[in-house]
Amino acid sequence: MIERKLLELYRRAMQQRESAYAPYSEFQVGAALETIDGTIFTGCNVENGSLGLSICAERVAVTCAVANGHRSFLKIVVVVSPLASPCGACRQFLSEFFGDDASIYCFEAGDPDRMQTWTMKELLPDRFRFRQ
Ligand code: THU
Repeated sequence: MIERKLLELYRRAMQQRESAYAPYSEFQVGAALETIDGTIFTGCNVENGSLGLSICAERVAVTCAVANGHRSFLKIVVVVSPLASPCGACRQFLSEFFGDDASIYCFEAGDPDRMQTWTMKELLPDRFRFRQ
């Protein structure tokens, strides 16, 4: 049974995924994160004709939260189809603001019964830190 806050994050990520701008890959991604005070921020992937400039949904959600004054996050839900896990760049980016025990969830879009979850530390052990 999926807990209430997690379901809310899943629904917000699903909704946000509809705004994904992914004309090149046609791979739409939505993300929703919860801050330590319970606020939710969302993001979708935004691609560019210069492909390397494309931004992942997770990083859009994090930058949106930080731009609004939040810096500590408890969990993030990512919705994709087919089910996939966050890319390496996003793992490092997330680790700046998610503690070792924070939860990362990836759901199959449209099917909340299909989900994978990790702690931040499992997803990126021994992360890079600028000055230890
Ligand atoms: N993408 C994400 O939004 N998050 C990830 O963790 C992996 C990949 C996006 C980037 C690009 O727009 C598309 O998915 C295909 O790579």
